Amino acid sequence: MASTSDKQIIFITGATNGIGLDSAIHLANASPNNHIIIGARNLSKGEKVLADIQATKSPKGSFSLVQLDATDDSSITAAAQQLQKDFGRLDILVNNAGICPENASPEDAWPSRSTYRSIFETNVFGPSLITEALLPLLKQSKAPKIINVSSSLGSIAAISDHDAAFSGAPYPAYRMSKAALNMLTAYQYFHLKQFGFKIWTYCPGYVVTDLGRDREQREKLGMESSETSAVGIVEIVEEEEGWGGGWVYWKEGEQLPW
Ligand SMILES: NC(=O)c1ccc[n+]([C@@H]2O[C@H](COP(=O)([O-])OP(=O)(O)OC[C@H]3O[C@@H](n4cnc5c(N)ncnc54)[C@H](OP(=O)(O)O)[C@@H]3O)[C@@H](O)[C@H]2O)c1
Repeated sequence: MASTSDKQIIFITGATNGIGLDSAIHLANASPNNHIIIGARNLSKGEKVLADIQATKSPKGSFSLVQLDATDDSSITAAAQQLQKDFGRLDILVNNAGICPENASPEDAWPSRSTYRSIFETNVFGPSLITEALLPLLKQSKAPKIINVSSSLGSIAAISDHDAAFSGAPYPAYRMSKAALNMLTAYQYFHLKQFGFKIWTYCPGYVVTDLGRDREQREKLGMESSETSAVGIVEIVEEEEGWGGGWVYWKEGEQLPW
């Protein structure tokens, strides 16, 4: 690998699909100074994605790949060790990996213990423990940043307004997991700002991906592409005006209530 010592090192979890993948491509195209580490729970899928980017996207920035399953502690430890060995520091962590296996059906209105467990393992325990494992590397950065990819479905303020758009939307375990993730942002910001960290909760909008296993329906409804979510991630990384940090932001830069 060419020297990355002067580059901005950016690690994106769940970067093999959807918003994570588009963010990886957009960040690489934003600057030749960006080095993007693709986090892949499935290494062979990650290798395929990386080969495809190199062959078709002519990225300005550089890439590498790390295996990371947000639900597996040994995978998190191994990923942290690999990043330590390869780079010795991390500038930006994007906690993007997430799942929403619930359905918009009455049977899923009150989830089972196993549904809660699987969603919280990936969406809450994963980003909490990944951040913890990578903190020593982030502390080596001159300008450490963490972006936690959440959802406005996790907003307690939004669901408390019963007339608001999406207040009646289902997915209770997913919603609770994103509310917990928002607390992680607030907690991290309180404790890490003294070390120069900037931290965001980012809502990427309702976009076409495989999150709900309903890509075709999202396309039919005319939902926006996940590239629009990647634009907001680039704006945060580039510290464009309006993205102050320490709070929850909509993909177009507007601050949202927690
Ligand atoms: N799409 C939306 O409308 C929307 C709205 C609000 C918030 N979000 C949030 O945006 C983030 C990205 O979602 P998406 O819409 O891009 O979904 P997606 O298309 O399903 O992609 C999710 C990514 O996360 C990875 N992933 C899943 N479980 C993992 C685990 N245990 N460890 C590591 N990686 C894992 C997936 O890996 P594989 O490639 O191996 O499947 C995939 O790369 C999520 O946090 C989601 O909650 C999405």
